[in-house]
Amino acid sequence: MSGGEGTKKGPIMEPDGRVRQDPYSLPPGFTWDTLDPTSPSVLKEICLLLSLNFTEDDDNTLRRHFTPEYLKWVLAPPGWQTQWLCGVRLTNKKLVGFIAASPANLHIHDSERKVAQVNFLCVHRKLRQKRMSPVLIRELTRRVYQQGVYQAVYTAPVVLPTPLSTCRFWHRPLSLRKLTDVNYPGLRLNTKLQLKLNRLPELQKTAGLRTLTREDIPGALDLLHTHFLGSGLSPALSPQEAEHWLLPKENVLDSYVVEASHGTGLTDLVSFYTVSTQVLNHPLHRQLREARLLYCITTATDPVDLIEDTLRLAKAEVSLRHQGLGDGRDKLQPLRVGLYESHLGPQTIQRK
Ligand SMILES: CC(C)(COP(=O)(O)OP(=O)(O)OC[C@H]1O[C@@H](n2cnc3c(N)ncnc32)[C@H](O)[C@@H]1OP(=O)(O)O)[C@@H](O)C(=O)NCCC(=O)NCCS
Repeated sequence: MSGGEGTKKGPIMEPDGRVRQDPYSLPPGFTWDTLDPTSPSVLKEICLLLSLNFTEDDDNTLRRHFTPEYLKWVLAPPGWQTQWLCGVRLTNKKLVGFIAASPANLHIHDSERKVAQVNFLCVHRKLRQKRMSPVLIRELTRRVYQQGVYQAVYTAPVVLPTPLSTCRFWHRPLSLRKLTDVNYPGLRLNTKLQLKLNRLPELQKTAGLRTLTREDIPGALDLLHTHFLGSGLSPALSPQEAEHWLLPKENVLDSYVVEASHGTGLTDLVSFYTVSTQVLNHPLHRQLREARLLYCITTATDPVDLIEDTLRLAKAEVSLRHQGLGDGRDKLQPLRVGLYESHLGPQTIQRK
């Protein structure tokens, strides 16, 4: 897809309808498996694989920790299917490779398209550099084609064909002392002045901010629809998907709304999900919790006030990660956000 002026919009390649029937071959000793995220024991296996192999920072002190509640939420949205949760096992059944896709509808310019949202590509550390990733990707692509879906979106920290966009992560430390204790990347010295400047106001600024409930889903969908009008690429959520991605879930997802005072619907929506990080080899700290901004839509409230309130609501959490397209520094500067990671780009895959 390309969207610049004078360029043609449309699929990168038109599917030819041919789909390979047999799974791709794996080396001897490895087998494919389809994984069911509603099975607690399977979820536990995926959590273990990802927690031990997904990420670790450069000096091996922080490692992403996956919880069953979080994974179930991400892996099993409405329409999920086991075929798209693709595992590789050793003969002894140990899970050593994983890649997942879930169905999603996207508005792409003037059309709506069903795509696969790819996530969690992971190969066990001991099996790296053996070209297992391309096989996982090819096999998942085959399974996605089998369902008549020919496009997918994913994000990656590396630039892969064909990038659609890039975005940057902005972090706002909430517990500066703890973060500097554990050497959180990108933070400067823990001085008294910084502690003072990072303190959040005790009182809520946004009048009427409250937790989103099931009854708010139609209003939230209206807000999302208006917010994304004119955008070249945006989610097209059904009411069931909106419930899944917005209704609060303990320790996973929080969503808040503001209702118009004259009763004409919702004016603002903010939501964030929580991920945890294991702190390795530290005498005091074991875990960090990070709140990641999902949606932030304001029509009546100052966005800075709403995000500041959200920072307070994220409470025990350590930092709020805002995934911004383009350079959001100016808008968020009053909140003392900092750029932490380099670009992470939503990308598309199509026939390769
Ligand atoms: C990413 C990961 C699966 C790559 O495994 P690996 O053993 O280093 O690489 P393999 O030998 O299996 O495959 C190498 C190929 O995979 C590609 N590749 C690497 N990372 C990739 C990614 N994130 N998405 C798609 N392809 C990727 C490489 O470009 C290379 O292909 P090329 O030779 O055509 O350029 C592995 O490092 C891992 O599990 N990392 C932790 C989790 C993670 O970062 N996942 C990606 C999230 S986007």
